[in-house]
Formats: sequence, structure tokens, C-alpha cells
Amino acid sequence: MTRVAVVTGAARGIGAATTLALTAQGWAVMAVDLAADDPALPYPMASEADLTAVVKEADRLAGRPGMVQAVAADVRDADALRACVEEAERQWGRLDAAIAAAGVIAGGAPLWEVPAEQEQTVLDVDLGGVLNLARAAVPALLRAPLPRAGRFLAVASAAATRGLPMLAAYCAAKAGVTGLIRALAVELGASGVTANAVSPGSTETSILAESARLYGLPTATAFAAQQPLGRLLDPAEVAAVLAFLASPASGGMTGAVVPVDAGLSL
Ligand SMILES: NC(=O)c1ccc[n+]([C@@H]2O[C@H](COP(=O)([O-])OP(=O)(O)OC[C@H]3O[C@@H](n4cnc5c(N)ncnc54)[C@H](O)[C@@H]3O)[C@@H](O)[C@H]2O)c1
Repeated sequence: MTRVAVVTGAARGIGAATTLALTAQGWAVMAVDLAADDPALPYPMASEADLTAVVKEADRLAGRPGMVQAVAADVRDADALRACVEEAERQWGRLDAAIAAAGVIAGGAPLWEVPAEQEQTVLDVDLGGVLNLARAAVPALLRAPLPRAGRFLAVASAAATRGLPMLAAYCAAKAGVTGLIRALAVELGASGVTANAVSPGSTETSILAESARLYGLPTATAFAAQQPLGRLLDPAEVAAVLAFLASPASGGMTGAVVPVDAGLSL
């Protein structure tokens, strides 16, 4: 049986690595990304070409085409996410996991000085996008036949528990994600569908490069010193934990927020 996932933020970084990790393990994936720049934000989002490159690499890993389908959609658009879920069910007959990895960052100033439009974008994408995916995907996860092992997963952040200056909206959104996951886990109860999150530390992606710029650091490498492992994480290291959480093997966990942070939160 082919297990089926929807992954948001799939065109690069942690979402792309997760899409590829799942594909390598035989999953079919609906790979969702904005795949266009966001006019509210000063750094580039992933492009259509990035999303196409992920599909190409997934085809190679799967040894055949067709196991990953790319969809350009905005996680702020609840109808678009519902359509992605319906398309996954239509193509592959079921949904086993929904993984909210899409995210953006903004700030670089005290919260009262951050442009309101940027603050709203962070809240709408980083928290609203996870709520939208849950609203679209959980009914589909619950539609899977018994015994089911449905998984709702979100990428939170060490920012969910740390007070990071100049990133107040991001911290608020990520703390919101962990609260959402805990409540959803209890709501899902004994249904066979679980809800969990990972909280990455500094991981080498575009968001980290933008964080370095917001803090006036020359490169993101400067963040490595804060982590006891003494290095940045590779997106594949976060993806490996998400792929485990997506699998039936994680059935004993729900409502968990798993640090994958090179020790940052210690
Ligand atoms: N990199 C880190 O150090 C770090 C640490 C903690 C948490 N995170 C979280 O990991 C997740 C993945 O980020 P990343 O580090 O891979 O960064 P990234 O910028 O490489 O990836 C984010 C992806 O989300 C997509 N995206 C942005 N807005 C979107 C929207 N409205 N709708 C659909 N897709 C959208 C982007 O195009 C991009 O492909 C984010 O939720 C981020 O907050 C990252």
C-alpha cells in the first residue's frame, strides 16, 4: 500500500527535504508551495523552477515518475488547500499525512516598529497556514479506513519557546503552532490520527539566511555557535524526524513537540 502525504513549503528547505525523504520511503506526495515571491516580504520565496526540481529529484529517488505532484498554492488560501487534499485522494485514493512546513520570517526591529503588513504576513502564513491545512486535511485523514495511522505534523521552531528579540511575530506564530498541535492531539484522541510538531534549531535554509540579514550578521554560520552541536542543521536532519513522525511507527506519540535543534533549547 502506498502511503500518501500533502507537504506544504515543499519547493525548498525543510519541506523539500521532507518531500524527498518520504518519496525515498515509497510515499506519494502532493508537494505544495507558493512558488512565487510574496510582495509583503523583502526576501525571495521559492520559485516554480525550485518546485519542478524537487519533483525531478523525487522521480529519481522513487525510480519512476508520478509519485510527487507539484501544486502552486498559498497556505493562506483554505479553498486551495482543500483542493490539494481532494486531488491527493482522487489520485492516490487516500491521505495518511499532512505536513505543514511552509513558513516565512520577518522582523529585524522591535515589534512596535515592524511594518504591520509584515507582522500580519508572518501570522497568516506561519500560524494561519497550519490552521488551514488542519481544517483541509484532518477530515481526509479521518476518512482513511480503520485501522488508521493518520498524521498531522507541523514545523514549529525553537522560537516557540524562546524569546527571540526582533522576531516577536514569528515567536508568537510558532508558539501558536505548538498550542494548536496540543489541542488538536486531544481532539483527535483515539481516532488513530495523531498530531505532532518538530521544533528545528538553526537549519541551513533561506529563512536562516534572512534571519542573519535581519540581525545584521554577515552569514548564517554565526548561528552555529549557539547550538551545543556547534554546527547548523541540514534540512535532511529535520526531514528524517518528520518522516519518522509521519510513519505508523510514531503511533505512541501525540501532542508532542520534538526538538530537532542541535541542542539549542538546552
Ligand atoms: N531554517 C531554520 O533555521 C528554521 C528553524 C526553525 C523553524 N523553521 C521552520 O521550518 C519551516 C520551513 O522553512 P525553511 O527553513 O525550510 O525555509 P525556506 O524559506 O527554505 O522554505 C519555506 C518554504 O515555504 C514556502 N512558502 C512561503 N510562504 C508560503 C505560502 N504563503 N504558501 C505556500 N508556501 C509558502 C516558500 O516558498 C519556501 O519554499 C518554516 O515553517 C520555518 O519557520 C526553520
